[in-house]
Amino acid sequence: MKLGFIGAGEMGGAIIRGLLKAGFKKENILASVRTPEKANLLASTLGIAAYTDNARVIAEADRLFLAVKPAQMSQILSEIAASGVAAKPLISMALGWSVEKIEKVLPHWPIVRMMPNTPLALGEGVTLFQFAAATPQPVREEVMKLFESMGHTYEIGLEVFDVATALSGSGPAFVYHFIDGLARAAQAQGLDEKLARALAIQTVLGAAKLAQHEDTTPAQLAQKVATPGGCTAAGMEVLITSDLKEVLCETLAATARRAKEVAQS
Ligand SMILES: NC(=O)c1ccc[n+]([C@@H]2O[C@H](COP(=O)([O-])OP(=O)(O)OC[C@H]3O[C@@H](n4cnc5c(N)ncnc54)[C@H](OP(=O)(O)O)[C@@H]3O)[C@@H](O)[C@H]2O)c1
Repeated sequence: MKLGFIGAGEMGGAIIRGLLKAGFKKENILASVRTPEKANLLASTLGIAAYTDNARVIAEADRLFLAVKPAQMSQILSEIAASGVAAKPLISMALGWSVEKIEKVLPHWPIVRMMPNTPLALGEGVTLFQFAAATPQPVREEVMKLFESMGHTYEIGLEVFDVATALSGSGPAFVYHFIDGLARAAQAQGLDEKLARALAIQTVLGAAKLAQHEDTTPAQLAQKVATPGGCTAAGMEVLITSDLKEVLCETLAATARRAKEVAQS
């Protein structure tokens, strides 16, 4: 089965790397991008077939992944409609492009809308899914299984797709910002830059893993670590009395709002 990608930048590239890491054969992946330089780079670094020829990917792929920016989606969907190829599973990850919006150009196609995140390149991703009514159960299961090999998958209702996207799709950027903030704070207190970054990254990674495996909530875990009168409690006091949670609410609200705006544009 051939997987074809139209667009293979930050996200498409992460998925391809995740697929290769999960054991998917490079001979069965093809991609089309805008610039010949990027096509050459994909071919030389990942060993996949890469072109600047969308028509070829549209014709040859058994499963068609759309990994272009939302602004390019109208043009790409028109190219697919004009190609005259028979309907085949089409998997889109474009922000703001609901199944219903894609169906207006490609009615009756088995459409999968998904929202991945870049950690799936390392098998630690989160991928959200929404399916068209015309998408048969075996196709739904097949696509979800493919992404289970790169992390966690969730089928999500349209009404919460934007907020879930804000959390897991954009979330890595927020976490990087937090890590950067922790590292810089330690640097300001005299820690070497490299060491501060390494400690911040590993602390977030280890704490997240523990939170995933413990049977208690993150709030309870925080309480467990902060012994009353201890140094962690002193730091937690600052965090709790600051407006961090309010800022996070506003961050997710702004992200979800922007997703809605893109959807309506
Ligand atoms: N980045 C994320 O973390 C993330 C997370 C979730 C969802 N997404 C979604 O993923 C999609 C892609 O985002 P991205 O961050 O990967 O963008 P990106 O890095 O800019 O990649 C876009 C890709 O599309 C290609 N492209 C542009 N116009 C094209 C055309 N007419 N025909 C064929 N290929 C074309 C580009 O080729 P060149 O490289 O040659 O220009 C590039 O490979 C977006 O819809 C976004 O909403 C992204």
